[in-house]
Amino acid sequence: MNVYFDNAATTAMDDRVIEAMLPFMKNHFGNPSSVHSHGREVRTAIERSRKKVAELLNASPSEVFFTSGGTEADNTALVCGIESHGITHAITSPLEHHAVLHTLEVLEKKGKITLSILDVNETGEIDLNQAEELLKANPKSLISLMHANNEIGNLNDLTRIGELAKTHGAFFHSDTVQTMGHYVHDMKTLPVDSIVAGGHKFHGPKGSGFLYVRKDKKIHPFIHGGAQERNMRGGTENVIGIIGIAKALELAYEDMAGHQAKIEAIKRHFIEKLLQEIPGVEFNGLSADFDRSLYTVLNVSLPPSAANSGMLLFNLDLEGISASGGSACSSGATVGSHVLRALNHKPERDSVRFSFSRFNTLEDVDYAVGKLKDLYLVEA
Ligand SMILES: Cc1ncc(COP(=O)(O)O)c(C=O)c1O
Repeated sequence: MNVYFDNAATTAMDDRVIEAMLPFMKNHFGNPSSVHSHGREVRTAIERSRKKVAELLNASPSEVFFTSGGTEADNTALVCGIESHGITHAITSPLEHHAVLHTLEVLEKKGKITLSILDVNETGEIDLNQAEELLKANPKSLISLMHANNEIGNLNDLTRIGELAKTHGAFFHSDTVQTMGHYVHDMKTLPVDSIVAGGHKFHGPKGSGFLYVRKDKKIHPFIHGGAQERNMRGGTENVIGIIGIAKALELAYEDMAGHQAKIEAIKRHFIEKLLQEIPGVEFNGLSADFDRSLYTVLNVSLPPSAANSGMLLFNLDLEGISASGGSACSSGATVGSHVLRALNHKPERDSVRFSFSRFNTLEDVDYAVGKLKDLYLVEA
């Protein structure tokens, strides 16, 4: 059996997304910047996709910019948000994705900002009182806090953070890569200045993404060149990626509650089975708390086991189960997770992130927990 439980890394594409993209690989190949009919038909399709994304976000098409993914969108919002709004200080947390953390660290090294990293407790909850004090003390601030953490699933209260940011005149960016397509983002009511998406996290194509920037918080372009994306991002558009991400988001919104119910049932079953079968199992962060974590992520902390120490993901892989541990480094080996480190996770325990999609089944869970149990019963 083959089980894919690494949907926070990437998801399988939905066939309907592929079908929507195909005509733009085969027939509609024009350059959208060309003024002839071949170009115009592709330009129209791009603008239709932008309108669709904007409608789903309850935003204006002029607030949506297509990018190559979440990383580029985060970089654009942070680098250009800071530069365009005269920001001298940024606040973030140690649990952010490197797309945010490394970008802010580079800006600090270049002397463009000072950087404050918030304290977190051992379940990964952020100290928002500390954030408020920092916002009060630093009038030209940007605060960047993700909606949901990609490793432990902790959800941040974007409304509360947004209100704090508003009160103190700060720019609020949120990395929403893990929640786009899984929760409704209504930009008329959500007090966030910029959010982002990566299409491959919700059954769209890899290398597709978008950045939303609120109309009254306009930022300078990140990539200079042609006039594409209304001068915000030079370069011939990734047409099939744009068609694909808009279709994927449309499908996600079509039955979001249904998908959520299905995935929550899978996560609930997983937790129950693990508690039954593996004595001493624990869950990292808030990932077993259904009200305060992303329903697609479960981060499991397993008791020390000589047989599996450091080899657990490899052993699961041999059984056809794809899951993940810390962030993958370029050599393919896993390096210690900066998120688990910030939570003071005990190094003698193995941690595995299982992450789900609407394509998973309860049988997948039974298979994975059965194999996990076998691996745990093996004597070293
Ligand atoms: C929270 C978060 N931010 C940003 C990214 C980067 O997104 P992309 O792969 O689309 O560049 C990821 C991908 O894992 C993520 O989980």
